[in-house]
Amino acid sequence: MEKEGKGKEGDILGILSLKGGVGKTSVVSSLGAAISDFQRKVLLVDANLSAPNLGMHLKVVDPKVSLHHVLEGSKTAKSAIQHLDYFDLIPASIFFDKQINPLRLKNKLKPLKQDYDFIIIDSSPALNDETLAVMMASDRLIVVTTPDYPTLSSTLKAIVHARRRGVKIDGLILNKVYGKSFELTIKEIEDTLDVPVLAVIPEDEEVVNSISKFTPFSKHKPHSKGAEEYKKLAAVLIGEKYRPFSLKRLLGLDLGKEEVNRELFYERVFK
Ligand SMILES: Nc1ncnc2c1ncn2[C@@H]1O[C@H](COP(=O)(O)OP(=O)(O)O)[C@@H](O)[C@H]1O
Ligand SMILES: [Mg+2]
Repeated sequence: MEKEGKGKEGDILGILSLKGGVGKTSVVSSLGAAISDFQRKVLLVDANLSAPNLGMHLKVVDPKVSLHHVLEGSKTAKSAIQHLDYFDLIPASIFFDKQINPLRLKNKLKPLKQDYDFIIIDSSPALNDETLAVMMASDRLIVVTTPDYPTLSSTLKAIVHARRRGVKIDGLILNKVYGKSFELTIKEIEDTLDVPVLAVIPEDEEVVNSISKFTPFSKHKPHSKGAEEYKKLAAVLIGEKYRPFSLKRLLGLDLGKEEVNRELFYERVFK
């Protein structure tokens, strides 16, 4: 797909959390597919350099040219791009022996901004140069968290580090939500982190199934609650008014906090 409005540079969105297993990589592929459904040109970048697996989510195994080669300096970023069904991808190498400099990421991705509407970067859960490189390369960040105390403390750490570096944080994705009373509430999470929750993705074994099928979850189960949340989040990130029929809204009932936050985000960024 050709990028619309060639004059405007695309945004680089970093997906961050300082804890493994919360769902960063699943978010990157599902959100990427959801944004591309709005006719936007999307590039995903696997910058989890020490333990990459975005490629494995998408059936890209052992790429000949990867982000590692780009950061080592032997290949251009353009030559590492693979064209997949819903988006393009710069994969990373699972095994790579030579020295790389993760902090080159920003400069390597910059020229690609003119070719894409959105570049989404997957990151490592370790607080090291890889994660720092993602923070520095991103125009804005979304932090992924789950609603429990151990993850909340890691999420707070991620936010403190991003803020210290002056990187804008658009909001949080609350993932793997069971909807049980033992979980932290959105209010408790927002009061602790002072960052709005922009999407709530339920715990759903179909996410695991989608990975076995090498398909983004938002495409695998497009009518699920999670896929609908990705669609609404994608819309607000690109400034599209997308408002599916809602009985709650029609009846004037209270909307979820994440719904209100998305509307506030839209008003703030696009009005
Ligand atoms: N909403 C969800 N419901 C159920 N399982 C999920 C959900 N999101 C992610 N997972 C599963 O959790 C595991 C870790 O997800 P992943 O995206 O690899 O996390 P991270 O990149 O943060 O380490 C994977 O097996 C994935 O299928
Ligand atoms: Mg991951």
